[in-house]
Amino acid sequence: MRESIPPTAYESNRRLIVGPPSSERSLRMFPPNEVRVWRARVGRQPAGWLPLATGTLSEEERARQARFVRERDAELFALGRAMLRRVLAASMDVAPRAVTFEAGPFGKPRLAAAHRAPFRFNPTHSGDLAVVAITVGREVGVDVEAVRPLKDLEGLVRATFSAREQRDILAAPEAGRLASFFAAWARKEAVVKALGHGLRFPLDAFDVEVSPEAPPALLASREAALVPSAWIMHALPPMAGYASALAVERAMNSAVTCEEWTCAASP
Ligand SMILES: CC(C)(COP(=O)(O)OP(=O)(O)OC[C@H]1O[C@@H](n2cnc3c(N)ncnc32)[C@H](O)[C@@H]1OP(=O)(O)O)[C@@H](O)C(=O)NCCC(=O)NCCS
Repeated sequence: MRESIPPTAYESNRRLIVGPPSSERSLRMFPPNEVRVWRARVGRQPAGWLPLATGTLSEEERARQARFVRERDAELFALGRAMLRRVLAASMDVAPRAVTFEAGPFGKPRLAAAHRAPFRFNPTHSGDLAVVAITVGREVGVDVEAVRPLKDLEGLVRATFSAREQRDILAAPEAGRLASFFAAWARKEAVVKALGHGLRFPLDAFDVEVSPEAPPALLASREAALVPSAWIMHALPPMAGYASALAVERAMNSAVTCEEWTCAASP
């Protein structure tokens, strides 16, 4: 079993900023140690946003958008993709529709090699919230989960989490278990998305901090492919009704900035 560096070792390097949106063009000045996170909510977009968002998508993405059964899911997909395309496009000085993607090992999307760009990214969406995290040259994984009631919480905990996590979640007072479940789930999913394996990775083979009040941390791993000391976890600024987490390849002075994004006419 490998133990991670305790969270306090990197706490002093953590910088969470929620501020007024900076110009997307400032991405050209993207410092290599920075993780940039954008988040957008379907319910908080300006009038007329949807055609603008759809207009940035590829034919394949529009076809996918059209296949969603629920309108809200189609809108969330369009919003997330438009945000991803717009922030990547600004960083590479190309049009949003000119951004092309390819699938990495295990299907993790990445920029097509033809871009010759160092940016790595990972999107997530849940409820009415879309989030994307972008780095320079470091793998990143992000997850958000709308906290919602679950039937048979204890059964789900036992089916999903490692022995240590099960013990810690079920030790929490009953009123706090749901928050603990989603905090732990978002943290685990951020880790497996950063690694690129997604949910194929055995979720009981590593432990995360499950307390929503404690900083996210990858505590231990029993799989050689996941070395805790190689990754750093961050919280995102809290948002009522959502759990979230970010995992990124470790680097000196890692800093996270988080901005709200709206789908307005291009700058
Ligand atoms: C990828 C996966 C982690 C997404 O989980 P989710 O909670 O449904 O979705 P999120 O909103 O957090 O993330 C979705 C994004 O993850 C990204 N993604 C896809 N495969 C990924 C991978 N292997 N690693 C990291 N990110 C991945 C995509 O960009 C996707 O966005 P898109 O749907 O707009 O293309 C999960 O579906 C998975 O692991 N799938 C592969 C294994 C599988 O199908 N298992 C069966 C279900 S248990």
